[in-house]
Amino acid sequence: MTTARRPDPALESRARELADRLGLPYRRRPEGRLSDGDGGRAGEEGPAEAYLVVERTGLAIQAAGRRLVYHPGMAVHRIRALRAGGGDPMVEAMGLRGGERVLDATLGLASDALVAAYAVGPRGRVSGVEKVPALAELVREGLARFAWRDPDMAQAAARIDVHVADHGAYLAGCSSGAFDVVYFDAMFERSLSGSTTMAAWRLVAEEGPVGERALVEAMRVARRRVVLKDRADSARLGALTPHRVAGGRSSRVVYGIWVVGPDAGDG
Ligand SMILES: C[S@@+](CC[C@H](N)C(=O)[O-])C[C@H]1O[C@@H](n2cnc3c(N)ncnc32)[C@H](O)[C@@H]1O
Repeated sequence: MTTARRPDPALESRARELADRLGLPYRRRPEGRLSDGDGGRAGEEGPAEAYLVVERTGLAIQAAGRRLVYHPGMAVHRIRALRAGGGDPMVEAMGLRGGERVLDATLGLASDALVAAYAVGPRGRVSGVEKVPALAELVREGLARFAWRDPDMAQAAARIDVHVADHGAYLAGCSSGAFDVVYFDAMFERSLSGSTTMAAWRLVAEEGPVGERALVEAMRVARRRVVLKDRADSARLGALTPHRVAGGRSSRVVYGIWVVGPDAGDG
């Protein structure tokens, strides 16, 4: 955790307070570049090469010479398409209806969560769980402070609450049927995106597939469906035996769907 160059006392005290709250070590901002191009993962022993930086305009993550700030990403286009009456493969896989509650168990940059929050409308709610505290904070702040030009996006962002937790532990603490849909989008082993933003994110994000225990818990917590996004060319999804797989023909991603509760007859 650090600040922008030449911080004023207010910036420095915000960074110290955040470092305390998130349990991150605080470093006075050094002159020069924060990190070189070697990489290295946040939280590992040795010199920290990923920083959560309190800048004058908000938070940024800097890692391996890259800088990541909050951005809604593809959610802007996807919400526009939905509003124009088009479809969205994730929303269709979830079968979302107005007023529903969604648990996004792998929040990341909350792009999918925003689309889900738009789809469930003003009476719906999305809870997002992110394991990496720095990412969760960046996204919590981004959702609250981004300069939304589209009121629908601003309202969707306000319907998302961000929780810092391992989704296995979070799900274990949820009552049965607490959410209509539980959604997973774990890190792909090989990134589908070559963007520099993603490079910084991949350095700090938690990697690894969704475990079977988390999936079993998700089926208890979901009232209607559990949905897991994966690469179309991955063998992993098939091994988890979803009831249905949607997408894949022209897309590089697919959605594994487990239908539970009142939807089970549709499976
Ligand atoms: C591929 S990204 C999700 C992207 C997201 N769907 C979006 O639209 O921005 C996966 C995210 O899940 C987080 N994650 C991975 N394992 C987790 C776990 N066990 N509990 C909570 N979050 C986890 C990672 O840190 C990463 O930020």
